[in-house]
Amino acid sequence: MDRSLGMMSIRVNIHDLAVGGEGVGRLDDGRIVFVAGAAINDELQIDLTEEKSRYARGSIVEIISAGKGRREPSCQHVVRGCGGCDWQHLTDEAQVEAKISAVESSLIKLGSIAAPDVGYVVGPQTSHYRTTLRVAVENGRPAYRRSGSNELVQIDDCFVAHPLMEDLLAEGSFGTATEVTIRVGSRTGDRLVMGEPNVDGFRLPDDVTVIGKNKARKNRNAYIMEEAAGIKWKISARSFFQSSPEGAEMLAALAGEWLTLHDVGEQVLVDLYAGVGLFSGTVGDWFEKVTAVESSPSAVQDAANNLGSHVAVHKMQVEKWTPELADVVIADPPRAGLRIEGVEQIRKTQAPHVMLISCDAGALGRDASLMTAAGYELDQVDILDMFPQTSHVEVVSGWVRNS
Ligand SMILES: C[S@@+](CC[C@H](N)C(=O)[O-])C[C@H]1O[C@@H](n2cnc3c(N)ncnc32)[C@H](O)[C@@H]1O
Repeated sequence: MDRSLGMMSIRVNIHDLAVGGEGVGRLDDGRIVFVAGAAINDELQIDLTEEKSRYARGSIVEIISAGKGRREPSCQHVVRGCGGCDWQHLTDEAQVEAKISAVESSLIKLGSIAAPDVGYVVGPQTSHYRTTLRVAVENGRPAYRRSGSNELVQIDDCFVAHPLMEDLLAEGSFGTATEVTIRVGSRTGDRLVMGEPNVDGFRLPDDVTVIGKNKARKNRNAYIMEEAAGIKWKISARSFFQSSPEGAEMLAALAGEWLTLHDVGEQVLVDLYAGVGLFSGTVGDWFEKVTAVESSPSAVQDAANNLGSHVAVHKMQVEKWTPELADVVIADPPRAGLRIEGVEQIRKTQAPHVMLISCDAGALGRDASLMTAAGYELDQVDILDMFPQTSHVEVVSGWVRNS
């Protein structure tokens, strides 16, 4: 051990990647150490940046020898410390292996599912795919946080941002905001920027709809239109939409494929955490009646605009909704997952078939355990890789109720 920069510099071998994306090594005293920007089998010299009794965190000082999954990041900002994409330093193959392994181990360890057969579906693009980007602002210019820190790294382009954002990132002036959400309709050309807390001093091209977060809720013109699966979607500044229209289409298609493989009833679909209505508006067409439940007021307004009259949109939390009998439930919760409250609502619908869309491997594992306890069996599980260059996963799982 040497003590450069007043910190303890330590040599460590990386043997795994954690669900959160960091490399995992072991210190001489037996504690686990997490290292951002590491690859499996990297031999690293690290500085310890955080120490707890059971684990520590370190940052790379030197790569002594690189694991075979390591590559040079394509983006200059990663080299400068940008933490926007945490896996640009991994080869495509290493990213795929790590995602499959994270989902498998979460299903085994947290979900108690013996031998999950996890499928992998290649996403639509590996770069320039994101049609919504949320970035910090420093001195009027866009910035990402350095990984594991609140320090900012200013950027003037972004490897995963849609090309319609190019001039906004390169030349946009975002005044005194602390954060901005940039949203584009890749198939309509619409562009919108929402500043937090406001848009004082913004200088952007005339075609861009500019709105302060403090005003976005009441302003009915703060939206873009996007096209996906043959439908035009109204997406307001504060509403959720998938990372790209192609990704949204693939997600809806995956859900549709699984439903067609099974002899599902066609009376009632319940779409929980419905957003602007992606599933209600696509596979929902196969059902006589659709109930969509969503808590965000702007997403509910958008859904009412986007969906046909056979869809009843309920503006409320899933936990507060009164469950109804359903043939199929599709549930696409935020990062925390369904938790016991969401699973309990699904159980009460008595739906024989449930599709769960999880955007966090850990939450999937915990929900899997709850779904099993609620009488459901895992039938199929696929990763749809909508977030290449990052450790984020989108997992589509199909569940069948035990008779
Ligand atoms: C991952 S998004 C999925 C949206 C939609 N299914 C889609 O594919 O575009 C999760 C959605 O759940 C909503 N949400 C979060 N917590 C909720 C809750 N407790 N009850 C209802 N909706 C909730 C969010 O506003 C968001 O629109």
